[in-house]
Amino acid sequence: MNFITKALGVGLLVATAVNGQAVKPVVAESGVSAWMFDISQTVLTDGRWKQNEARTLSYLKYVDVDRLLYVFRANHGLSTNGASQNGGWDAPSFPFRSHVQGHFLTAWSQCYAMSGDSTCKSKASSMVSGMLACQKNNGAKGYTTGYLSGFPESDFTALEGGTLTSGNVPWYVIHKTMAGLLDAWRNIGDANAKTVLLSMASWVNTRTGKLSNSQMQNVLNTEFGGMNDVMTQIYLMTGDSTYLTVAKRFDHNAVFAPLSKNQDSLNGLHANTQVPKWIGAAKEYKATSNATYKSIAVNAWTITTNAHSYSIGGNSQAEHFRAPNAISGYLSTDTAEGCNSYNMLKLTRELWAMDPGSTKYFDFYERTLMNHLVGAQNPSDSHGHVTYFSSLNPGATRGLGPAWGGGTYSTDYDSMWCCQGTGLEQNSKLADSIYGYDSSGLYVHMFAPSVLKWTAKGVTVTQSTTFPASDTTTLAISGTSGSWTLKIRIPSWTSGATISVNGVAQNVQVTPGSYASVTRTWASGDTVTIKLPMGFRTIAANDNSNLVTIAYGPVVLCGNYGSSTVSSAPTLDLGSLKRTSSSALTFSATANGAAVSMVPFFEGHGFKYVVYFGKSGSLPTST
Ligand SMILES: *[C@@H]1O[C@H](CO)[C@@H](O)[C@H](O)[C@H]1NC(C)=O
Repeated sequence: MNFITKALGVGLLVATAVNGQAVKPVVAESGVSAWMFDISQTVLTDGRWKQNEARTLSYLKYVDVDRLLYVFRANHGLSTNGASQNGGWDAPSFPFRSHVQGHFLTAWSQCYAMSGDSTCKSKASSMVSGMLACQKNNGAKGYTTGYLSGFPESDFTALEGGTLTSGNVPWYVIHKTMAGLLDAWRNIGDANAKTVLLSMASWVNTRTGKLSNSQMQNVLNTEFGGMNDVMTQIYLMTGDSTYLTVAKRFDHNAVFAPLSKNQDSLNGLHANTQVPKWIGAAKEYKATSNATYKSIAVNAWTITTNAHSYSIGGNSQAEHFRAPNAISGYLSTDTAEGCNSYNMLKLTRELWAMDPGSTKYFDFYERTLMNHLVGAQNPSDSHGHVTYFSSLNPGATRGLGPAWGGGTYSTDYDSMWCCQGTGLEQNSKLADSIYGYDSSGLYVHMFAPSVLKWTAKGVTVTQSTTFPASDTTTLAISGTSGSWTLKIRIPSWTSGATISVNGVAQNVQVTPGSYASVTRTWASGDTVTIKLPMGFRTIAANDNSNLVTIAYGPVVLCGNYGSSTVSSAPTLDLGSLKRTSSSALTFSATANGAAVSMVPFFEGHGFKYVVYFGKSGSLPTST
């Protein structure tokens, strides 16, 4: 209902070229030939993604803005209004307190853009006006104009002088705050957000402009998030090239130089420190047309997805990249940090727009979203709290966080980790990557019940499916008639895909790992039925062909071991695999000679599970 209100009300008031975005960039990106839809154009209608979204929105509408403003107000010399302090990574004593608030701004703004929800909008606006008041009090605290954070500006002086020892990562925090303000500006149209953001951006220029190149490169050895990304985006939003100059100061030579030559030098690097700067490289390419940036971003993606990722799409162990293809020796409790996958998916969207005919991007997106990120949220928690890592050791349980977050799922006020923040962002934008478009038509990247309002064309696409429980999805097309091409991702995991229009089978190429194209004059009421047959497959660890994950179509399965201790990978008889229901994703198998039930890994909560098995025999030829 909110969607309709937004589409018919606010939507008509803004220029149609905006396609839903409240404030759009003044500089168009170059080097792209396709686009993702603005978040306001798509809503979920049913299923696990919608349920995840509802849980996260309920937390977003519950959380107390005064508590989130506490560390800002305390640092900028304002009253904390009697609010309670947060714990975890937002505690007043935590070195990089105030990093999480930008995630809330992004998530609230996404909630508003999708649904027109007034609570999300007003929470974002009061957060921003609280931040504006903090920034305005800088004179009284001796801070430079534009500075805004929950810790003293002297941390930057210490960082620049090489004497910062508190564990703070100050540019990482500034990036998060600026990214949240940017989203509140462009998704909600919040004028204060623009004011606070541009004032911060000027401060970034002042702070970095006085450093030599080598001083700046030293600064970049401390995690700085996507400062190159957000500064480039501010350039695209405003057209002021000063911001692009500042963005380039955050090009990290030690990481970019090997990637530009397609060298894998990731071993030992803190993983989530790298991915946001690769997203920045992609944006810098789109802002400058400098092909070196494109190589850096594409090579980083290819190296990470091929040589550093687990079957669930996640990467890293103990937050770090290991040697290329080293997977089997690192299946531990602290694998697959959530943020890394969230950021890899952002990078994936950026790269697809440069190379839209390639399905590798949304094959990876589907794999990682479904098997890692959606499943990281606790389905039994009404606030949708998430895990930090997704453990892949035999007999693991979900809900493993760092000890300082309580060692389990995130909580309302006492964890506030990075992965809680990216979890809020991800679960408030699950609909945003289902569809894309180019000058010739529409891309269907993913299969999820949803409604796309393609306002630029006057077309609505309603996707109905219980995918992945069912292998069939239906697209109902309504609105303005016209000729365009429907491009449907035929995933690399399927075989024997079929497409029909109004019940008539279409004679089109449906090669796995390609987009199938159906071109016609579409009329309101047309129905497209897509069948993507699923079967069992194995995904081997890169470095051990005998250690495998079982997948059914796109769905990574795990063995449900209840409360039994499992300390090494059981050997699964591949020929024993059977689907036990036609409507639910339930399976049986034999491993180490005993029956084990298999379920989607995204449902693996509340019991000990196994994702990587030893194997014997061969997969059944039919299910
Ligand atoms: C392109 O970007 C790379 C990486 O930052 C830089 O080294 C190079 O000088 C740039 N080239 C041009 C022509 O600006």
